[in-house]
Amino acid sequence: MENRVPLILLFTLLLPCFIAHTSSAKKQIEALSQIYKEKYLKNNIDIDRTHFNANLNFHRAEINSQDGLGLKEKDRIGILPGQPPVKFKQYGGYVTVNQTAGRAFYYYFTEAQNSDKSLPLLLWLNGGPGCSSLAYGAMQELGPFRVSSDGKTLYNNKLAWNHAANVLFVESPAGVGFSYSNTTADFVTGGDRRTAIDNYAFILNWLNRFPEYKGRDFYISGESYAGHYVPQLAHTILAHNQEANKTIINLKGIIIGNAVINDETDVQGMYEYFASHAIISDETWEQIAKYCDFSPNATTQTDLCSEAAKEVDKNTNDIDIYNIYAPMCHNTSLTRKPKKTTSALNLDPCGDNYVYAYLNRPEVQQALHANVTNLPYDWQPCSDVIKKWQDSPSTVLPLLKEFMSNGLRVWVFSGDTDGRIPVTSTKNSIKHMNIPSKTSWHPWYFAGEVGGYTKVYEGNLRFATVRGAGHQVPSYQPARALSLISHFLAGTDLPNKTTKS
Ligand SMILES: *[C@@H]1O[C@H](CO)[C@@H](O)[C@H](O)[C@H]1NC(C)=O
Ligand SMILES: *[C@@H]1O[C@H](CO)[C@@H](O)[C@H](O)[C@H]1NC(C)=O
Ligand SMILES: *[C@@H]1O[C@H](CO)[C@@H](O)[C@H](O)[C@H]1NC(C)=O
Ligand SMILES: *[C@@H]1O[C@H](CO)[C@@H](O)[C@H](O)[C@H]1NC(C)=O
Ligand SMILES: *[C@@H]1O[C@H](CO)[C@@H](O)[C@H](O)[C@H]1NC(C)=O
Ligand SMILES: *[C@@H]1O[C@H](CO)[C@@H](O)[C@H](O)[C@H]1NC(C)=O
Ligand SMILES: *[C@@H]1O[C@H](CO)[C@@H](O)[C@H](O)[C@H]1NC(C)=O
Repeated sequence: MENRVPLILLFTLLLPCFIAHTSSAKKQIEALSQIYKEKYLKNNIDIDRTHFNANLNFHRAEINSQDGLGLKEKDRIGILPGQPPVKFKQYGGYVTVNQTAGRAFYYYFTEAQNSDKSLPLLLWLNGGPGCSSLAYGAMQELGPFRVSSDGKTLYNNKLAWNHAANVLFVESPAGVGFSYSNTTADFVTGGDRRTAIDNYAFILNWLNRFPEYKGRDFYISGESYAGHYVPQLAHTILAHNQEANKTIINLKGIIIGNAVINDETDVQGMYEYFASHAIISDETWEQIAKYCDFSPNATTQTDLCSEAAKEVDKNTNDIDIYNIYAPMCHNTSLTRKPKKTTSALNLDPCGDNYVYAYLNRPEVQQALHANVTNLPYDWQPCSDVIKKWQDSPSTVLPLLKEFMSNGLRVWVFSGDTDGRIPVTSTKNSIKHMNIPSKTSWHPWYFAGEVGGYTKVYEGNLRFATVRGAGHQVPSYQPARALSLISHFLAGTDLPNKTTKS
């Protein structure tokens, strides 16, 4: 029992900084630490880490017959409280994903600013497990609005991704944000597998409500623990298409950022990054590399590993390891009037608190068509309701290979100032896939600057870094992120030369 303690240290090293600076909102920071802790501590007892495999997890997804055209118009959002005027249409509402259990997912959909009829459909997922795509993706990263410091008004994000696609956000799985289950047991029996099936049922039923998007080129994107959700949903779509011998969903590709894809290299890479960015000493890194065991089946760690982990803890407690150069949030209060300095190009580190305040307002929930069943708990950026996670494969790399051999476009990106799932992790994970390269490692350009570095592999896989971006890439480098997603969706190379735009 003794030597189990170090692992708690290892994976909750982010917790103290969370407690120090927020009031009530549970953040991504906590959620990801929790899953690693569970995986390494309760391995083989509580959490299933075997490969995600369609043959073993193949269920028929439910189609809701009541999901007709009328619901789409009901879901239309006129204007959100405190919102500046816009030209595109937005929708929000519930889609039932499992009638027996009474599970329904909340979605928020923003049509493209122009050419909504020809641009592709892009789904965005955040991770956690348990973190909301509304909290992060829609309201702090790539959505059209950001919440002001008064917690009441919105301002435009001029670099929103609905300049490049029709963008769909969904809070998944049940228990995240406004998405719920009427069967409370679901909150301890879920995991990656059920999330994939429910996400699949969601997208099928959503397409029935928005039939003009059936057959449209469809792409799935996400970050962090969505490095599991995105490939698992894509795999489920492919499996159903194959079984039916027809294109039920016209999936063309996936793109994931600072993504959890292979536990061993992901965790190792975090320490390597801390050392190479002068956050921990070389001695501490050497001790970790030598005495800690991050292999998929590891359950215990040595005392020397524990000692090194304590050192890491001391050195990382007071910085935001999701963007090692970013300021911290020191005052969680709302301001009476919106701060003047705020803009999508100048990220406020207290954004979680503003979004929390905004989305818990009854008039906002009413405008969003959210919380229609009066949930007995508040809206949180990361779930307090989900208590247990049953399955989480130690790697999803075989799924990426499957997509490559099925001709899907696969892009993996990485904000290079994230210390949580940093570039070192993702570089090592890709190296682990052992696939031949098509180009050398080289810079890509945006607006006269190096936007990041990239390398292309045989089989339509691209790795691209985004220079100066933390874990939430579109939050920290919105222009580079929009350029990246535009090239991904268009299927074009990232530019090798500077351009004027
Ligand atoms: C609905 O969810 C329950 C678990 O809550 C599961 O047993 C059942 O198979 C699901 N139904 C479908 C059609 O997926
Ligand atoms: C959950 O229960 C509420 C209250 O009975 C009901 O109105 C709602 O339709 C149920 N949700 C689903 C998805 O069945
Ligand atoms: C799948 O569909 C194609 C084209 O419609 C057809 O040629 C092929 O025989 C079908 N395969 C199966 C197994 O039904
Ligand atoms: C880890 O455990 C699984 C299942 O118990 C086993 O199949 C696998 O070979 C083990 N891997 C290693 C590296 O020991
Ligand atoms: C925090 O911000 C609020 C609102 O702007 C302000 O009234 C309060 O004085 C600040 N508290 C501290 C400790 O700076
Ligand atoms: C739902 O609404 C009730 C009030 O009817 C509120 O107490 C609760 O916090 C809300 N929950 C969520 C998840 O928004
Ligand atoms: C960009 O540069 C890389 C590395 O030099 C090269 O492999 C690739 O073909 C170039 N792409 C284009 C479109 O010129």
